[in-house]
Amino acid sequence: MNFADSEIVASILQKEGHTVVSDIEQADYILINTCAIRDNAEQRIRKRLHDLRALQQRHKQLRIGILGCMAERLQSQLMVEEENVSFVVGPDAYRRLPDILTQVRQQGVKTAETELSTTETYSDIEPVRVASNGISAYISIMRGCQNYCAYCVVPYTRGRERSRDPETIVAEAHSLFNQGYKEVTLLGQNVNSYRFSQSDGSSVDFPELMHRVAEISPLLRVRFATSHPKDLSDRLLQVMAAHDNICKCIHLPVQSGSDRMLKLMNRHYDSAWYLDRIAAIRRYMPDCSITTDVIAGFCTETEEDHLKTLDIFRQVRYDYAYMFKFSMRPDTYAAKHLTDDVPDAEKTRRLEEIIALQGQIALENNRKEIGKTFEVLVEGESHRSKEQLFGRNSQNKVIVFDRHNILPGQYVQVKVTDCTAATLKGEVVTSRQ
Ligand code: 5AD
Ligand code: SF4
Repeated sequence: MNFADSEIVASILQKEGHTVVSDIEQADYILINTCAIRDNAEQRIRKRLHDLRALQQRHKQLRIGILGCMAERLQSQLMVEEENVSFVVGPDAYRRLPDILTQVRQQGVKTAETELSTTETYSDIEPVRVASNGISAYISIMRGCQNYCAYCVVPYTRGRERSRDPETIVAEAHSLFNQGYKEVTLLGQNVNSYRFSQSDGSSVDFPELMHRVAEISPLLRVRFATSHPKDLSDRLLQVMAAHDNICKCIHLPVQSGSDRMLKLMNRHYDSAWYLDRIAAIRRYMPDCSITTDVIAGFCTETEEDHLKTLDIFRQVRYDYAYMFKFSMRPDTYAAKHLTDDVPDAEKTRRLEEIIALQGQIALENNRKEIGKTFEVLVEGESHRSKEQLFGRNSQNKVIVFDRHNILPGQYVQVKVTDCTAATLKGEVVTSRQ
C-alpha cells in the first residue's frame, strides 16, 4: 500500500516540476513513507532518521519529510521528537505536498498536514512507477479501513473506508497493459468490501470490478490483496474461477485459530466460518494457493489458544504466511481496554513454533508441485545466478529456471523439478509472448 502511495506522491510532485533522483546525495528532499502497524516498523524509521544526520550535515539544503501512517499517528509531535524532520504529511494530504515543500524551503517553517478525508482516493492521479520492473504494478482501489480489529492502528491512521471510481481503475489497468505491463495487483485493506455507488444509483462491487479488469486482456494477470475472511463471497470465487488470468492465490489473514481470541480481536468470524471459506476456495479452485497473516501472543492468549492456531495451520496448510508477534499500538481497542500480558519470551516461543510448522508445511506443499507444469510470468534475473531467471506462477510461487534466450515480461511454461520451502526450481518447456 505504501509502495502504491509513494507512486502517487511521485506523480503529484512531478507535475510541479520535481524529479525523483536515484542518488540520495543529489536529493533536495527526502520523503520517507512510513508504516505504524507494529512498533518495530516505527523504530526502523527512527533509526533511518538518525542515520541521515551525517548526510544532512554535508547538505545543509536537504529537507526531510515523514509521510504515511507514522506521520498520521504522531503528527507534529514527531517533529519535536525528531529534530531533523521538517514536515509531516498524513496519507490523505499528499495533494498539499508541493505547497508544503515550497513553504518549508522558502519560509523555513516546519509543517504538519495530517487531516484525514472521507472522500480522497487520488483517483485522477496516474501514479509514476518509481521503482517498477515494468512488468508488474500496484493499483490502489480503495483507502482506509473501519473494521477496528482490536490490535490494529490502521483505522486511526488511514481513516474511513472509501472506494475509488471503477472507471478510473479500469483505465489505469488498461494504460498499464498498453505500456507493456503484464500484471496488476488491486490493493485495499479489505477489498471484499469495495463498493462504488455510481451516479445512476447502481453500484459496482469487488467481483464486478475484478471481472472488468480481467476482461482487459487474457495476457494481463490480475491479483488482489487483502481479503477479510468475514466477507469473502462465493461470487468473488466464481469470478476468479471463470478467468484464467485472475491469479489463483488468496491472501486470507486468519490472525488466530482460537475463537476466543478472534472474538477479542473483533474479527467478526470464528474458526468454523474461516474453515468454511477455505473449503469454498478449494471447491471452486482446487489449484488455488492460500496465504495468511497471524499474530502470536495477543492479549490474554493462553497456551490452549496458541495450540488452536497451530491446529488451524495444520488444517489449512498455507502456502505462505506472514507471522508476527503482537505489538501493542496506542489508540487501539487493545491499548484502551486490554493488557499486553503475554511475556515477550513467550510470544517469541509461540511465534517460532508457528514459523517452524509453517516452514514444514510450505516445503511439503512445494514438493507436491514437482512434476507439474505451470505458466510463469518472467520477472527478472535470479538473485543467485546470472544464468537463471525467476518468475511466478498463478499461485504466486517463485520459480527459478535456466535463462536460455527468454526475456523478462514473457510467459513461459515451466516444469517443476525441485524445490525448497520458499522456491520452486524448474525447466522451461515452451514460451509464448
Ligand atoms: N501487532 C502485530 N501484528 C499486527 N498486525 C496488525 N496489527 C498488529 C499488531 N498490533 C498484523 C496483522 C495484519 C498484518 C498486516 O499485520 O496480522 O493482518
Ligand atoms: Fe487492521 Fe483489521 Fe482493518 Fe486489516 S481489517 S487494516 S487488521 S483493522
